[in-house]
Amino acid sequence: MYSFARLGLGSFLVLAVFTTHTWADDSSTIPLGTDGVNINIVPNQYIIEFEGEPDTDAGEQATQDFFKSLSDGGISYTVYENYTSLFNGVFIGVDDKYFDAVYGITSAASVWATRLSNAGDQPPVPPNLPTSPPLPNLAHEYTGVNRVHNSTQWDGTGIKVGILDSGIDYNHPAFGSCYKTPGCRIQYGGNYVNDTDRADPLDTCNGHGTHVAGVLAGNHQEFRGVAPNATLGIYRIMDCKGVAPTNWVIKAAIQAHKDGMQVVNLSLGTPGGWRGWGESSIVNKLARRGIYVITAAGNNGMDGLWTVVSPAVATQGIAVGAMELPRYYALHLNVTVAGKTFPIQRTEQQTDFPPLNLRNVRLVRATGADGTDLACTPLAQEVKGALVLAQRGTCDYTTKAINVLNAGGVALAVYNNRTDDMGPISYSQAVTLPSFSLTIADGQALVKLLGGSGGSAATATVNHEVYAFDNVLAYTPASYSAWGPDPEGAIKPDLLAPGSNVYSTLPLNMGSYGSMSGTSMAAPYVTGLVALLVQSQRATTNLTLISNVVHTATPAKNAAGQYFSVAQQGTGLVNAWNALHADLAFTLRRSVPVYYDDRRYTKFPLKLWWENRVNAKVTYHFSSQPALSVSGVGTDSQSATPPRISTTAASVSFKQTSVSALAGNESFAEVTISSSKFDRRDFMVYSGYIQATPTVGTGGINYTLPYLGSAYATVNLPLLQSNYAGLPCLLRESGGGCLDAKSVHRFTLTGKDFPVVAYRLQAPARQLMIKIAYAATPNSVHASVESYLYGMQSRSMDTNGVPFYTFRWSGRGHYFGKPLDLFDLPNNKYVLRFTFLSVFMDTESQTYITPTIQLGGS
Ligand SMILES: *[C@@H]1O[C@H](CO)[C@@H](O)[C@H](O)[C@H]1NC(C)=O
Ligand SMILES: *[C@@H]1O[C@H](CO)[C@@H](O)[C@H](O)[C@H]1NC(C)=O
Ligand SMILES: *[C@@H]1O[C@H](CO)[C@@H](O)[C@H](O)[C@H]1NC(C)=O
Ligand SMILES: *[C@@H]1O[C@H](CO)[C@@H](O)[C@H](O)[C@H]1NC(C)=O
Ligand SMILES: *[C@@H]1O[C@H](CO)[C@@H](O)[C@H](O)[C@H]1NC(C)=O
Ligand SMILES: *[C@@H]1O[C@H](CO)[C@@H](O)[C@H](O)[C@H]1NC(C)=O
Ligand SMILES: *[C@@H]1O[C@H](CO)[C@@H](O)[C@H](O)[C@H]1NC(C)=O
Ligand SMILES: *[C@@H]1O[C@H](CO)[C@@H](O)[C@H](O)[C@H]1NC(C)=O
Ligand SMILES: *[C@@H]1O[C@H](CO)[C@@H](O)[C@H](O)[C@H]1NC(C)=O
Ligand SMILES: *[C@@H]1O[C@H](CO)[C@@H](O)[C@H](O)[C@H]1NC(C)=O
Repeated sequence: MYSFARLGLGSFLVLAVFTTHTWADDSSTIPLGTDGVNINIVPNQYIIEFEGEPDTDAGEQATQDFFKSLSDGGISYTVYENYTSLFNGVFIGVDDKYFDAVYGITSAASVWATRLSNAGDQPPVPPNLPTSPPLPNLAHEYTGVNRVHNSTQWDGTGIKVGILDSGIDYNHPAFGSCYKTPGCRIQYGGNYVNDTDRADPLDTCNGHGTHVAGVLAGNHQEFRGVAPNATLGIYRIMDCKGVAPTNWVIKAAIQAHKDGMQVVNLSLGTPGGWRGWGESSIVNKLARRGIYVITAAGNNGMDGLWTVVSPAVATQGIAVGAMELPRYYALHLNVTVAGKTFPIQRTEQQTDFPPLNLRNVRLVRATGADGTDLACTPLAQEVKGALVLAQRGTCDYTTKAINVLNAGGVALAVYNNRTDDMGPISYSQAVTLPSFSLTIADGQALVKLLGGSGGSAATATVNHEVYAFDNVLAYTPASYSAWGPDPEGAIKPDLLAPGSNVYSTLPLNMGSYGSMSGTSMAAPYVTGLVALLVQSQRATTNLTLISNVVHTATPAKNAAGQYFSVAQQGTGLVNAWNALHADLAFTLRRSVPVYYDDRRYTKFPLKLWWENRVNAKVTYHFSSQPALSVSGVGTDSQSATPPRISTTAASVSFKQTSVSALAGNESFAEVTISSSKFDRRDFMVYSGYIQATPTVGTGGINYTLPYLGSAYATVNLPLLQSNYAGLPCLLRESGGGCLDAKSVHRFTLTGKDFPVVAYRLQAPARQLMIKIAYAATPNSVHASVESYLYGMQSRSMDTNGVPFYTFRWSGRGHYFGKPLDLFDLPNNKYVLRFTFLSVFMDTESQTYITPTIQLGGS
């Protein structure tokens, strides 16, 4: 549905998708410049966390010990930044080749890579909608927010909410058209992007931050965010391209903490994230200081399981995915045939043209000389003054536009040829034809209405108005919304919020208002709700508050009445009214693991603790509902996207189904989860909900507690996908396809004549270790290339442009236990051993041994 070409990663991730046996693109564009399997990692830059707290003797000692170890080892480095607040650490530059050595220094508690995060959802041209008057937020009707706004006083007044994003257009009336002046709602913030000056978080080039700030806290006539009077701190960490490295995120997080933010919305991520990555660790550090951190789950849902981003996998944050709602706004054109008018959804025309106004013009199907409606050949008919309908495909948009212009057409509507989102149309040269795109469903319906060709009986009216369309996908998780669980099995996302075609504020120079789609739009919705909850002071602790948000949501079912997996929807659609009126809190997160890795094939007994905050005795009835089981791996042990689905479920039994608690008391329900119905050889993630409903007539709301687990020996999960374009395999950096596995391949280690290994991970891997062996004794390790640099790897994904990983070997290595003694391997015949450890590291999961690499000579 959504175009992932929009990811904004383009300039960094130019890896061509593998076609059969050759690089699909010019091999010179393959970024094999550095030894590196993770190309979204900034090479030679690390964030080191030392033992001990900042400004303590222990912390100071650890810092000194670390730098002494570097000096003793003769490792040169540059300190870019000292961290003395939030955690004790530094941001340093040190050559990747010393990673094993740095990793081994014991005073370093954590060594985090600098990752390039992105928001994953900003379109290059926001589809602008009319500016005035602003429209009400349609989503509020389905999430209880309208009810809250209409009948409570909670609006975020006095609550400080920090937004780490692309900045904001603070001249927008929805934020008071002011910045840090007395009485202004934006009171804090700054710019942490290095391309402008430090003080000013003004966003006029990206729009993402302004859009999400509107969802959270906009307030302008009919348009209201969830917490329309919250006080804002705007920390600009994403540049105009929407990319941010970890060090900018950390600096902004430290400042947000210093500014006393109570709720922080962290705006970006790297798909397939691990809890141990830097951004996730920062989220947990903020949470431990009592700050609520809300993160977007990510937009790689099309890739299926294990796609949630870091920092959304952080245990103590609230990770939010996106749900489709019943109605949304979109620009449209009215098509009138035989007196009947049909509204058809369309995108914005190109921004270079003034808003298009056409009244009752002819709507004509393109008919090319080739007999198709692709408009790839000169049009066979005259279309003077008409809006021309053509199908996507075969040739580029520029060719279609030129053919329409030559035949006298005044505008072009291209209908999609598949069900994804084709986005706004752009041309490769100066073509001046207003154009917009239509969905495949609308396109096919129009083709039917217009008949074989021509169709002068139809007229179209196009202007800059919006129409509220019904959504056929209502109450289903959005296709792009990232799936959990996290690599280590915890439940993520926690819940869903409105994320598709979300109408909100844009910078004034981008049209003031417009719609965007993504989990980035869903996260601030929940951030706004958390601000209202903090203001209401109903929750006694931060855990109670999080429980009130997560456990009062409503899980969604498919057309067959089966719940979507917890791995896809968490507890379902957020309900602001319920969250603000919850008078029980469940302490599920504190007392029990939420994931059952059933390697021992046991039953899981758990106690669901809850606390009664009503001023009277209450009685709750406990029951359970299974959700669909899902798998990221096919029955052939190969990657399954979309996930494989099964209705086999775990069984849940209750020791007592009715439980009472006196006023102010804690109580618990005892539950046993058993996965005995599953085939142990088949990797399946089961899940479901335990529901607590108040006894009839006592009022109160329902609570939904998720569980999730697997009855598979996870250690046996095949990590390397072997049915994909011949991977894993050995290649030459200079280009060409996979090299023959049985031959000896000579590399001179000059120019581009270096060995490269490409592989695809179908599941997350805890660790990749790259070792060297003599070709004659391939099973006996001779030296090490890397033991630790490639820890906590994501599974490969197709939709973020990294369908496989590559590693370029420089011919260097070190002996075991001597990471500082790097040397060039003498000319000889070698193999590289790639060893992948599974998530739980119980065993050496899988090894790939390259064909023979002969170094040197000619
Ligand atoms: C970091 O701290 C060290 C020791 O106090 C100091 O020498 C260095 O200049 C600082 N570096 C930066 C970039 O602030
Ligand atoms: C809240 O008020 C708005 C505007 O007055 C109205 O359109 C909406 O139906 C109301 N919603 C609820 C749930 O009361
Ligand atoms: C909005 O918040 C400010 C303080 O931040 C407060 O003075 C003002 O009364 C609030 N407005 C409303 C309508 O609650
Ligand atoms: C800004 O940051 C980018 C990426 O980190 C870097 O390449 C560039 O040199 C920096 N620019 C300035 C002016 O510091
Ligand atoms: C909230 O966080 C999500 C991701 O974590 C981000 O995409 C979104 O832009 C953020 N919203 C705001 C208002 O900062
Ligand atoms: C809640 O906040 C307290 C400090 O106020 C902190 O110690 C605790 O770790 C936080 N817990 C969570 C889950 O955020
Ligand atoms: C749809 O259009 C795209 C873009 O031109 C093209 O690559 C693809 O082959 C077309 N698909 C079909 C089914 O026509
Ligand atoms: C489409 O028709 C409806 C109903 O007649 C009207 O309200 C709307 O303004 C029309 N839209 C356009 C773009 O003309
Ligand atoms: C349970 O409630 C009773 C009566 O309200 C109170 O006296 C008692 O202290 C409570 N017990 C606990 C463990 O909270
Ligand atoms: C709670 O759940 C019960 C049973 O599913 C349902 O009948 C009832 O309407 C729900 N109550 C609320 C307030 O949603």
